[in-house]
Amino acid sequence: MNWEPLLEYLRRQELDHWAAQLQAQSASWLVGHGDYPRWSKALNALPDLDNIQARFDLPAVTVEAESQESMDLRQALAGLMPWRKGPYQIADVYIDCEWRSDFKWDRVLPHLAALRDRRILDIGCGNGYHCLRMLAQSPAFVLGIEPSVLFNLQFWALQKYLQRREIHLLPIGIEDMPEDLNWFDSVFSMGVLYHRKSPIDHLYQLKSFLAAGGELCLETLVIKGEAGRVLVPPGRYARMRNVWFIPSSQELVAWLLRCGFINVRVVDESATSVEEQRATEWMQFESLEQCLNRENPALTVEGLPAPRRAVLLAEKPGP
Ligand SMILES: C[S@@+](CC[C@H](N)C(=O)[O-])C[C@H]1O[C@@H](n2cnc3c(N)ncnc32)[C@H](O)[C@@H]1O
Repeated sequence: MNWEPLLEYLRRQELDHWAAQLQAQSASWLVGHGDYPRWSKALNALPDLDNIQARFDLPAVTVEAESQESMDLRQALAGLMPWRKGPYQIADVYIDCEWRSDFKWDRVLPHLAALRDRRILDIGCGNGYHCLRMLAQSPAFVLGIEPSVLFNLQFWALQKYLQRREIHLLPIGIEDMPEDLNWFDSVFSMGVLYHRKSPIDHLYQLKSFLAAGGELCLETLVIKGEAGRVLVPPGRYARMRNVWFIPSSQELVAWLLRCGFINVRVVDESATSVEEQRATEWMQFESLEQCLNRENPALTVEGLPAPRRAVLLAEKPGP
């Protein structure tokens, strides 16, 4: 894991202050986690592959390669389980992740401003699946931030083969980002807002990362209904402990306008299916099906409306 190319890039962009802050923090990144020794052993066991070609335009982020030792490859990748976001095809190993994250990307991509030459930030990016799919659109720079140590190591496993210089992951949370960057052309917050205790602060923070005229892509859990409706689960939601606010998509529009975004629109709203999120060989814990009411799958096991998601786009006003 080497963050120096990212820090060098930030210095060249006159973001020296941020680069210095990251450099000071980086000594403690990843290594403190109790499972780090086991995961880093898996990472180091990844075999070299020959004649690599990467594909980012397919549902599975793909590394085409000649592979002599696919058992070693499979075992090393399995050492980094659970794989939640994907899918990936690495030589002849197909990583069937818990999420068909390509379904979400298909709901998002057709509506976005062209990503070519953009500087992009993806908050809570998991192992970087969507960041990698963005590379098919030739952005200038993609930064994902993700506090989970395992998901960062999965990204580094992929980067061993991809070696792409325009994409970077930082093992930090949104609370570790500098305020008022005013620098990114596109900011993605997908699957994050409902985990925030203060969603309005989250929206202001996203806006502060964007350059004037930049685009926000916000994807989150919603409930059906008109503006003014918000579900605050009294306890768990679909077995998750940390779900705070689930507004209707029209209420989200109102929040975004109130925070000063313009050109706010809902471009997709759909129920999450058990085809999109399910247990697999690569993620063997319980998944969506076990979180829904058995008699009535329109409800969660807690009796709340079953997961439904919206994609909203909005802009920060121009200069
Ligand atoms: C539901 S997942 C969404 C992943 C991906 N963006 C997607 O849409 O498929 C939420 C992600 O946010 C990450 N996360 C949790 N706390 C965070 C924080 N404080 N800042 C940024 N990301 C966070 C989680 O580790 C997780 O990977």
